[in-house]
Amino acid sequence: MTTQLPRPASNADPAESLIPTLPGRFYTSEEIFAQEQRRIFATQWNLVGRTEQMPNIGDFLRVEIAGTAVIVVRARKGLRAYLNVCRHRGSQLCLTDNGNTGKSISCPYHAWQYSLDDGALRNAPNWRAMTDVDKSGLSLATVAVDEWKGLIWVNLAGSDGGTVEEQIGAQLRYRLDGDLSRVDRFGLENLVVGGMYTYECEANWKIIFENFQECYHCGTIHPELVEQIPTFASFEELGTGGYHTDGYSFAPGKEGFTISGKRALPMLPGLLPTDDAKYFGMILRPNAFLSLLPDHAILHRFEPISATHTRLTCEWLFDPAVVDNPDYDLSDSIELFHLVNKQDLDASAWCQPNMSSPLYERGGVLVPTESEIIGHWFYPWYRAAMGIPDSAVGGE
Ligand code: FES
Ligand SMILES: [Fe+2]
Repeated sequence: MTTQLPRPASNADPAESLIPTLPGRFYTSEEIFAQEQRRIFATQWNLVGRTEQMPNIGDFLRVEIAGTAVIVVRARKGLRAYLNVCRHRGSQLCLTDNGNTGKSISCPYHAWQYSLDDGALRNAPNWRAMTDVDKSGLSLATVAVDEWKGLIWVNLAGSDGGTVEEQIGAQLRYRLDGDLSRVDRFGLENLVVGGMYTYECEANWKIIFENFQECYHCGTIHPELVEQIPTFASFEELGTGGYHTDGYSFAPGKEGFTISGKRALPMLPGLLPTDDAKYFGMILRPNAFLSLLPDHAILHRFEPISATHTRLTCEWLFDPAVVDNPDYDLSDSIELFHLVNKQDLDASAWCQPNMSSPLYERGGVLVPTESEIIGHWFYPWYRAAMGIPDSAVGGE
């Protein structure tokens, strides 16, 4: 005898105030994950690091975008990116996540040497024995790389589809009501890292990404955060969950975005008095989340590893004068969002196993407090990028 599973009444036609989420398989299917890699992450600018990490010629970062290994190197005239693949027998060129190549990129296997500047094959052992070979056909494969405010972005599809500034700018205009000076004056390019955590989460990247686009959960799982910013627990003020373009004010008596609630650091140079005691957070699709505070910034980078596993790296960025001064305690600032990260990732992992439940075949629903950014901004972008009709995402 089989037991009839209870079924949702109908997420295909929910009440008007509810919006269907993606169906469960969008959070579990390796096939859909592979499509996302091809159609989203392999065609857009992905955040891979910050220029502060690679100040010297020869410095490199090894990253993986959409399953493709890439190295970003500092050449004589700026950053270059190449596939991390030797043209000889396919060895990886850089074997660590960061380091310095020296004057050229040298394959660790048979020592073919490539130029930092353009990836050209410069030399190889016993090359004189191969006089008929044209080296120009054996250069490294170049990858598009660009900088925006000290952040490094890589695009496997090249730069013909637009610059990083265009990709990010369009999102910032939406977030900041067109006034990009609100982010410019934080001087992100001048900040340096004062703390970093990496988290492994057993959840699909979209579960976490969606979580970062709503605050319906804040009153439940982030008691420390809502004590700092009461708006995050006020459904009246959250409304339909759209961004507050003026930022979110600290609670009266809270001087800093810190565990203690006390001001830990001086304001960043360049900010206006109206920037004080406020938080700005914004998704930068496809793989970043940026938070701006009066005295620091926080940068999240998402790495989708598989359909059910995501790596999240969080960096806390400060004025260099603060990081170099032992009189300042950075941990009071760092530990607040570290706590929030752990709470968010725990909640994301609570959801993941049930994405394959029969009850979630058609997905769940977004309530009005979650609808504006996820339902009306993220999902339309996702559908367009994936080339799927509206009816295939929610409302099946
Ligand atoms: S595989 Fe790189 S030199 Fe042989
Ligand atoms: Fe959260």
